[in-house]
Amino acid sequence: MDAHIHPSILSADFANFERDFKSIETADAIHIDVMDGHFVPNLTFGLPMVRRMREITELPIDVHLMIENVDTLAVDYAKAGAESVTFHLEASSEPVALAQRIRAAGAKAAVAIKPGTQVDEIINHLDSFDMVLVMTVEPGFGGQKFMADMLGKVTQIADRIATDGLAVRLQIDGGVDLENVATAAAAGADTFVAGSCVFNSEDRNDTIAALRNLAQSNLRH
Ligand code: DX5
Ligand code: ZN
Repeated sequence: MDAHIHPSILSADFANFERDFKSIETADAIHIDVMDGHFVPNLTFGLPMVRRMREITELPIDVHLMIENVDTLAVDYAKAGAESVTFHLEASSEPVALAQRIRAAGAKAAVAIKPGTQVDEIINHLDSFDMVLVMTVEPGFGGQKFMADMLGKVTQIADRIATDGLAVRLQIDGGVDLENVATAAAAGADTFVAGSCVFNSEDRNDTIAALRNLAQSNLRH
């Protein structure tokens, strides 16, 4: 398994996405946080912006939907050319069926859980997803403090992925930095979203490489 680093453009300059995408060209994917002001108390952008982003970068697009009505809205992000579409378990009434529809539309399907959501709600359905996202902050804003107590959930999911021999990636998102990425990898995460840590650094590609090296040398699998 290779450790993947996905910079979150929530910390990019919203008036200069094209320039900022070029500044993270060594990333494994771009993480795009779609927020609707209802599921989370913040509003970013939606489908027309994601379609335009698809045109201005070659990097894979990892869409993180923090919106309500995902059962209706998520598939359009797959059709817009996202490599993966992550929706929140808390926002879907049919997560397994929705994952199938996202896959049928040509994207990888991922499910996210907020800090207050326990793993038992998804642990028996891991094989329905290509990736699981364990939030390590309350979703809504960049630059928050990493919740290290979420790593217990990461290990529970990683254990089941290993036991069942599943090809499911395990992503964490929120507060990831050079101080905690190794611990998170050792706990079982293999895909790391990093917003402020990457975008606020002097050399963004150097920071991506440093995060990737630290994660890779501590990966559990
Ligand atoms: C939070 C978002 C994250 C956020 C991460 O709701 O889902 O992707 O941008 O930013 P940092 O790395 O600054 O916590
Ligand atoms: Zn995110």
